[in-house]
Amino acid sequence: MSIVVNKAGDTFHLYNDEISYIMKVLPNEQMGQLYFGKKIRPKEDYSYLVETHMRPMSSCVFDTDKNFSMEYIRQEYGVFGTSDYRMPAVEVLQENGSRISDFRYCGYRIESGKPKLSGLPATYVEDASEAETLVIELKDPVSKMSLKLFYTIFAKGGIIARSARFLNEGEQDLHLTSAMSLCMDLPDSEYDWLQFSGAWARERYLKTRRLQQGIQSVGSMRGNSSHNHNPFIILKRPTADEFQGEAIGFSLIYSGNFLAQAEVDTYDAARVLMGIHPSGFDWKLESGEEFQTPEAVMVYTDRGLNHLSQTYHKLYQKRLARGYWRDRERPILINNWEATYFDFTEERLVKIAKQAKESGIELFVLDDGWFGKRTNEKAGLGDWAANPERLKNGITGLAQRIEDLGMKFGLWFEPEMVNKDSDLYREHPDWIIQTPNRRTSHGRFQYVLDFSRKEVVDRIYEMMAKILSEAKVSYIKWDMNRSITECYSAKLPADRQGEVYHRYILGVYDLYERLTSRFPEVLFESCSSGGGRFDPGMLYYAPQGWTSDDSDAVERIKIQYGTSYCYPISSMGSHVSVIPNHQINRNTPLYTRANVAYFGTFGYELDLNALTEEEQEEVKEQVKFMKQYRRLFQFGTFYRLRSPFDHNISAWMVVSEDKKTAIVGWYRVLNGINMPYTRLRLHGLDESILYTVSGDKSMHYGDELMHLGMITTDASSGQDEENMRQDYDSRLYILKAVEGGNLS
Ligand code: DGJ
Repeated sequence: MSIVVNKAGDTFHLYNDEISYIMKVLPNEQMGQLYFGKKIRPKEDYSYLVETHMRPMSSCVFDTDKNFSMEYIRQEYGVFGTSDYRMPAVEVLQENGSRISDFRYCGYRIESGKPKLSGLPATYVEDASEAETLVIELKDPVSKMSLKLFYTIFAKGGIIARSARFLNEGEQDLHLTSAMSLCMDLPDSEYDWLQFSGAWARERYLKTRRLQQGIQSVGSMRGNSSHNHNPFIILKRPTADEFQGEAIGFSLIYSGNFLAQAEVDTYDAARVLMGIHPSGFDWKLESGEEFQTPEAVMVYTDRGLNHLSQTYHKLYQKRLARGYWRDRERPILINNWEATYFDFTEERLVKIAKQAKESGIELFVLDDGWFGKRTNEKAGLGDWAANPERLKNGITGLAQRIEDLGMKFGLWFEPEMVNKDSDLYREHPDWIIQTPNRRTSHGRFQYVLDFSRKEVVDRIYEMMAKILSEAKVSYIKWDMNRSITECYSAKLPADRQGEVYHRYILGVYDLYERLTSRFPEVLFESCSSGGGRFDPGMLYYAPQGWTSDDSDAVERIKIQYGTSYCYPISSMGSHVSVIPNHQINRNTPLYTRANVAYFGTFGYELDLNALTEEEQEEVKEQVKFMKQYRRLFQFGTFYRLRSPFDHNISAWMVVSEDKKTAIVGWYRVLNGINMPYTRLRLHGLDESILYTVSGDKSMHYGDELMHLGMITTDASSGQDEENMRQDYDSRLYILKAVEGGNLS
């Protein structure tokens, strides 16, 4: 890895074994983008890449030059209004009403390692040798706003992490009304755009379309990153697929309003912008004040989408997630939500926990309903103290009873919310987000606390910290069940109301930071009605997240498959629940529910007492199996093999680092009859290792399994009663290297 500056001091080339990123100071002193892609060797001059041609209808920068227009010059951080007509990366409103900026190059700095982003989640290094950072310093001579563009290249992987930092060095107040984390001008638009979108209970479905002239975008203006869209997109060459070809991923480490967009211009160049959604954003910078954007992470690969995802998985697992649980196998848990909803007593909970303990489950999680007057969704949020009518010995007593069973205890919170029927609201009705003289919308009868205010965050922190320090709590599920409306803070002046959404998320991060640093061994799982805030920002604090409220195995195949494009398996909360499934009323076999949930953090969302003895035995076997293989599931290399978005039969697999063990998950939604012969080509194995495959008497070399494929034929024909299969079928194939079976 290296960052090279040419002799003339105007061209910067960041490269490692896989990628090159090149930029240059342009004749107008703004920064031009030259290249991002597969590594090319460094050389002194790449000016030929700055193509300037006379184009009809262009506006030109220099008096004597008809060729130089910012309209078609690829830039590092484009601005609107000075001959570039594309959507800008930044807009600064000045006192005279002008929104034009001209950020001119003034210098650079190279740092080994990677600087922290104050108050924001970001990737990090453990040793300075892991990365190098280039800081490009620019300044607008008129507004006196200075801008630093940060580019971190990691020693390994095709990764560039970017962010921008503004400082008002002048006397007048400035307003940032748009400040993207990255602007990436690509020279052509021959790409498919991949987005991960959906809704509550069907999050992160893969949707693909061809880039077209004009703007295509996804985003959120809900205050959370949302179920609807994820702050992650991929541009891939139309010929690229999971296993080969060029693709670039764009991922924003942020949990609030975001925008990810690509604008294809008249000349088929594509500008990608990613950052805080500019709509409603207005950040005032008084003289001497700074603003730091969230970080965006770009990954380039020429080896297909699986390789792109694996790069993100590794980075986010090892250098975004932090703390005690980062590298540890995650406890197998049982959560009482779908078992009891609000209808529980301490005795009922302990009974669920006891049976779970019998099955080998390690952690009991008490979900919603344990605090205040929370016996239904209309009351109690905000009153984070146990309801003595339900838990006579409080959380401390219940946690101790669970510990006495030999299990760990976990607890649900929804720290950002309040019900009007709560002591907290009665005491502080002005603490919610609401706009004066307007109706305040509710979501699930709850209101959003104004986390842009420190005293609000302080109070919630005190309540949570009290419980965590008094009771033996090993895990927290941090929920967030509604989006923000009527966004306004009573604490901020009129000209700072455009800051509320971002300040709110900074407040959420602050609370997470305080709790995770004071209780470092507590495992945090983020949640937002399932996957409404499943984003990289959350991963920095909570190494796992509840992937979706939809616990149906068939639905989960798509949800987890889509989620895997960016997020590692160790981050996906996945549980076995009852049938008929509570969200979709579907009956799937118990083994299929587990076969899907193994590819995640694994747990149960039911009362095991309600299962038959035979099912209880099956659960014991599942738990035993997961304990044996969870390191592989959670930390192995994950490959998508066959997409549930395109096929009735889908498959994925994980491979251990030494390639000696692998597990393939195979899933068929609808049964068929008298079906064709099928083979599944595996990936990531060692060609020369001889493997046994569960359920198969013969052994196979890795090259056979990868190139020729593994036989998966289901020849059961309606007339073969013994082998009769059913809908929602699944299989796990376990591959193990034969001792001494290596060819080399
Ligand atoms: C939504 C979550 O996603 C569920 O798992 C559960 O915790 C409920 N909230 C509780 O209200």
